[in-house]
Amino acid sequence: MNNRSSMNKPLNDEAGSIQLPRQTQSRYILGEVYSIRQLTPSIKEYTIKLEEEINPNPGQFAMLWIPNIGEIPLSFADYSTGTVKFIICRVGFVTTYIHRNILVGSRVFLRGPLGNGFTLCSLKNCLLIGGGYGLAPLYYLGRILAMNNCRLKTLLGFKNSSDVFYVSEFSEISDTYISTEDGEEGFKGTVVDMVRKILAEETFDIVYVCGREQMLMKVVKECSAKGMKTEASLERIIKCGVGLCGSCSVEPLGLRVCRDGPVFDGRLLLKLEDPLKNNREEICIKN
Ligand SMILES: Cc1cc2nc3c(=O)[nH]c(=O)nc-3n(C[C@H](O)[C@H](O)[C@H](O)COP(=O)(O)OP(=O)(O)OC[C@H]3O[C@@H](n4cnc5c(N)ncnc54)[C@H](O)[C@@H]3O)c2cc1C
Ligand code: FES
Repeated sequence: MNNRSSMNKPLNDEAGSIQLPRQTQSRYILGEVYSIRQLTPSIKEYTIKLEEEINPNPGQFAMLWIPNIGEIPLSFADYSTGTVKFIICRVGFVTTYIHRNILVGSRVFLRGPLGNGFTLCSLKNCLLIGGGYGLAPLYYLGRILAMNNCRLKTLLGFKNSSDVFYVSEFSEISDTYISTEDGEEGFKGTVVDMVRKILAEETFDIVYVCGREQMLMKVVKECSAKGMKTEASLERIIKCGVGLCGSCSVEPLGLRVCRDGPVFDGRLLLKLEDPLKNNREEICIKN
């Protein structure tokens, strides 16, 4: 997965940021599972060959549909010439079905790419921060930024050493550090603790963050207080995926995660009265 498709070639503007054409596709595309890798006890990586090119931007997502089972949003963990990678964490009905029953050779369907991804840049000093399956969009983003000659530092947070994955992949493209809450591997503490330590010593042109929303908002606040630009990927319950049903709305701004996000400018998130209200984790816990 090291080649970049021609659609993702950088188009530099004056400020050094890169505007990619927005790719949005809402009909189903057939895919066949090419390989599966167990990354942790609850996370697997799926490589799927699609019957056509889709050229997603990093941070965009797809709706993966398993007929008679369900459809779930997943971030692109990588993409190259018709082959896509997803990192899937087993949390509930559909993801458990996928882990148990989707094998090499299984056929699946996807709609996408959907939503708005990260702003790409070249020759910049970038910080990537992630945890859990938030590493998925971050890896695809990092690979493209590295190809654009950005200088990358990556901070990955895990609960304990059995949750650690993708460290060698990130290390190939960036200066990578990990934290575990029990200190079994890397820095002892949360990724937010590690971020505070790094920000006391360094500044970055842009900080990209993906993961649990409480962590994400803390990082956005810390970085914004130091005047750094941030972009964060939000999660809500996504049903239609194209801005119609309202299930993923972020109030009071009337934003829809599936259409206006999932990636948002940190300055916008700071304007929300309660950015965590109605998020997926909160709804899942309530129900
Ligand atoms: C834009 C976007 C991108 C995403 N990208 C990825 C990705 O790359 N990889 C990935 O694994 N997942 C990703 N997700 C989350 C994924 O879509 C959900 O985990 C999935 O829909 C759960 O479906 P399920 O049927 O297995 O769980 P459900 O049966 O719907 O839920 C069962 C239980 O699982 C738990 N649960 C479900 N979803 C979550 C959640 N998001 N966070 C915490 N706990 C939860 C709750 O306890 C819940 O009660 C993404 C979500 C969004 C909105
Ligand atoms: S999921 Fe329907 S509007 Fe976003």
